[in-house]
Amino acid sequence: MRSILVVNPKGGCGKTTLATNLASYYAVWGVPTALVDYDPQRSSLDWLEARPDKYEPITGIAGHAAKLHLPHGTKRVIYDVPSRSVVEKIVKMMTHADAVVIPVLPSPIDIRAAAQFIGEFVSKGHLRQRKKLIGFVANRVRENTIIYHELEKFLGGIDIPFVTTLRDTQNYVHAARRGAGIFEMGASRVEKDLEQWRPLINWIEGKRVSTR
Ligand SMILES: Nc1ncnc2c1ncn2[C@@H]1O[C@H](COP(=O)(O)OP(=O)(O)O)[C@@H](O)[C@H]1O
Ligand SMILES: [Mg+2]
Repeated sequence: MRSILVVNPKGGCGKTTLATNLASYYAVWGVPTALVDYDPQRSSLDWLEARPDKYEPITGIAGHAAKLHLPHGTKRVIYDVPSRSVVEKIVKMMTHADAVVIPVLPSPIDIRAAAQFIGEFVSKGHLRQRKKLIGFVANRVRENTIIYHELEKFLGGIDIPFVTTLRDTQNYVHAARRGAGIFEMGASRVEKDLEQWRPLINWIEGKRVSTR
């Protein structure tokens, strides 16, 4: 089993979008997948509720339950970690993670927030051991914009892998409305998006499964 955390204390950067699309990716491939929503706003669980039966099943779990009951045979667990989570809580959740994905938007506010989050992480001594787990994803990108180049420069300057860039497209919005992921949309429409997801999937799947 592998656990993948999607985190960033900043709201609106794409945590739920990444978590639900990752779950959809594994579901499409028939991998028994659970989606754990720690956010009181329950966006990931709402997405699952909108998901029609014709799609491959994903187990939805409210993360606030005292104990998580993952169905027997679950192979991938994706955690949608709420915005405004404090570093200590995130670090605690990371203890059992095989990969930690941090989406960041190309915006001055989001770049500053990410810098502050990573800065706090480093200053509290959390980065060293956990560095191998973490990867950045630039989300909602419009290439050839100054702010994207600033984000690229920021992510490139941190000693954490910059795994991929996802473009700003209504494909994510349409998929979310239908309780689907882009992996469940017409291939020609999402061709570019599938290409952008490939490095993220490879990065997650290439990780050594932690022994515990
Ligand atoms: N790559 C993208 N392209 C277009 N819209 C996106 C993209 N990623 C996220 N969004 C939209 O941005 C909004 C915030 O994303 P969301 O995943 O809910 O962020 P978070 O869970 O971090 O608060 C949502 O309306 C979502 O549909
Ligand atoms: Mg969310």
